[in-house]
Amino acid sequence: MINKFTYQPKQFDLSGLSGISDKTLEMHFKLYEGYVKETNKLTEKISEFLQDGKIDQEEVPAYSELTRRLGFEYNGMVLHEYYFGNMKRQGSVDPDKNSTFFKLAEDSFGSYDIWKADFVSVGKMRGVGWAICYQNPANGALSNHWISLHETGNIAGFVPALVMDVWEHAFILDYAPADRPKYIEAFFSNIDWAAVEKRLQVNTVSRPATA
Ligand SMILES: [Fe+2]
Repeated sequence: MINKFTYQPKQFDLSGLSGISDKTLEMHFKLYEGYVKETNKLTEKISEFLQDGKIDQEEVPAYSELTRRLGFEYNGMVLHEYYFGNMKRQGSVDPDKNSTFFKLAEDSFGSYDIWKADFVSVGKMRGVGWAICYQNPANGALSNHWISLHETGNIAGFVPALVMDVWEHAFILDYAPADRPKYIEAFFSNIDWAAVEKRLQVNTVSRPATA
């Protein structure tokens, strides 16, 4: 075994959330653990190919396929950790008006309400994926993004601040597929804004100088 970095599933104490049942969470934790397992397995299989220090011609197809899956499995693991990590029992729907996140949302979108309308609309988009509010560490700006599956649409170097899983498995035991908006409302009632705040790397938005 060459790689010393084997991942262990993290534990999250989230029972008793509002509108997201313990049964859903139990199933979701199992799915998350699957991503941790697959990430470790992929890394190990790739390291086996590399044991002789090179990729032989006949190994290229299998090696390429495994390597292409890295983004899917790694992001599946990491995004779930962000998602579970930004919820808590008795969370609050909106951040404090004096919080850094609130001010950055105003600076980036004109108002917090516009930021929220955008984030919720991203979450309602058709398809399988995630809604993520990122912070650009270069200037502090917040922006909301749609991520297809786990890996398509993540912005390199941007910091995930608020992460919402909108795969159907995140809510199908509690809501019908067409009721995704109800799940999004439930998600907002469980947000741990202190956890979101801790992820921010820049406290202000630096704007380009105006002429
Ligand atoms: Fe998920």
